[in-house]
Order: sequence, then C-alpha cells, then structure tokens
Amino acid sequence: MKAPALMASLDAAAARIRRTAAAEPLIGLVLGSGLGAFAERLTDRTAIPYTEIPRFPASTGVVGHAGELVLGRVGKTPVAVLSGRVHFYEGHSMADVVFPARVLARLGVKAVVLTNAAGGVRLTFKPGDLMVITDHINFFGHHPLIGRNEEKLGPRFPDMSFIYDPELRRILKATGRAEKIPLREGVYLGTSGPSYETPAEIRAFRRMGADAVGMSTVPEAIALRHAGVRVAGISTITNMAAGILEQPLEHGEVLETTRRVGDRFVRLLTKAIPRLAKALK
Ligand code: HPA
Repeated sequence: MKAPALMASLDAAAARIRRTAAAEPLIGLVLGSGLGAFAERLTDRTAIPYTEIPRFPASTGVVGHAGELVLGRVGKTPVAVLSGRVHFYEGHSMADVVFPARVLARLGVKAVVLTNAAGGVRLTFKPGDLMVITDHINFFGHHPLIGRNEEKLGPRFPDMSFIYDPELRRILKATGRAEKIPLREGVYLGTSGPSYETPAEIRAFRRMGADAVGMSTVPEAIALRHAGVRVAGISTITNMAAGILEQPLEHGEVLETTRRVGDRFVRLLTKAIPRLAKALK
C-alpha cells in the first residue's frame, strides 16, 4: 500500500469505528488463537465484523480466530479489542498484517496488549504457562516498515530498545502477583509459519535466546512502536516446541491449552487493565 493511500485507509477505518464507539478507547488489545473469550465479557459491548471496516484484511478462516473488532469497557476503562488477527502465513502482505494494529493507533489508544499462543522453547516452561514478553526476535525474514516511510505515522528508523514497555511489564507482573497468577517472562521469537518448526530450528532458537516461538505479534509490535504506541505482550505457552517431547505438534493441542487456561488469562487481563489505565493517564 502506498503511503498516502495508507493514511486515507487508516482514517476511513477509524471513522467507521468511531461511528459505533461510545467512547474513545484508551487501551487496545489483540487476542490470539483461542483467546477470544475475553472480548465476550466486556461491558457496554458492541462488535463490528472486520468485513464491515474499510480496508481491513479478511481472515482466511483459521479455526480459533473470530474476526471482529469489539468495543466496550473493562471496569471504567474503554477498550478496543481485535478478536482474531490475520497472519503473514495466510498470504497477506506485512502492510495488511499490521493494518488493524495501526487502526488502533489511529483511534488514539495509548497502549496495546498483544496476546498470542506460542510454543515453549525454554525447557523449564510448561504448557499452560503465561509469559510476559520482555523482547522479541524478528525471524519472519520480512519487516512491516519496509517501503516508503509515512512520517505522519512515525520515523524512518524507530528505536526498538524498549519495544515491550518496561512500566507496562511491571504492572502485568504486579497484577500476576496480586492475583496469584504465576507469570513467566521471556523473549518471543516470531517466525512466518505455517509449518511448525523442526527440532533443529528450535535448538537454534534456544541458543539465540528465544524462550517462546510463534507466528504473530512481532510485526504488530514493530508497527505500534513505530506509531508511538506503548506495547505489552503476553504469550500463552500452549505446547512445548518441536523436538522437546516425543510427540508431534498439532493445532488442536494449541486450542485445547488456550481453553484450559482461558479463565486465568481473562482474569489477568481484566485485573491488569485498570492498573495499566492508571499508568497511561
Ligand atoms: N510454534 C509456532 N507457533 C506456535 C506454536 C509452536 O510450537 N504453538 C503455538 N503457536
């Protein structure tokens, strides 16, 4: 997408959403595979299918990804939730993959919490663990900011030193402690997929410093940071990555684990959002 067309498309999408939104959202959330339950519990809830938002890329229908923008509140905090995301492996361009996240930025959110399902690379992780993302490794072989830079969005060479906001990370950890929800911390490595990794790739990723591996989040985190939005990330470790256990990987296991930890995940987000909101004002 060319830059002027990009700004016009972002404005058109944001205008459509503002027609429905009761309040300007303070926090955006992106819900990963099987993690959609959170969006169903919002108060003052309205949902807009992605198909009704101009230029929103259409999901090719991965099981576990809904495809609607949900507006509502957690307590008093107005939020905008992308329930379901499009992935690079579906054949979308990087510009399309990050378009919904950029729309959240255009709506004026001050922070976005990115969530995902991920494979555990660190050997001490267990399926069902929740991990606050401290940093990432972009292993997509692509980058969402390639092409002419849109100065209205952000600078050509944005800093990524603090991409996962230290203050927001501290708040997530404090919420976990207060709610007795154990939280791991670690580095998320993003790769295109759609195949799961080989055992040799997982060994290599571990040596590179990765703690978890998945097929999303990295492009959105980069695009949001570029746009000056503060980013937090939470991975649900749904399975041990390839080669760690003597069993093959399947998407069913990923969805089964997200269902099992769903309540804990929803409680963490619900309790964290008012605390995050306080830090953003
Ligand atoms: N690898 C990549 N993506 C994933 C995995 C995995 O093991 N589990 C959930 N998403």
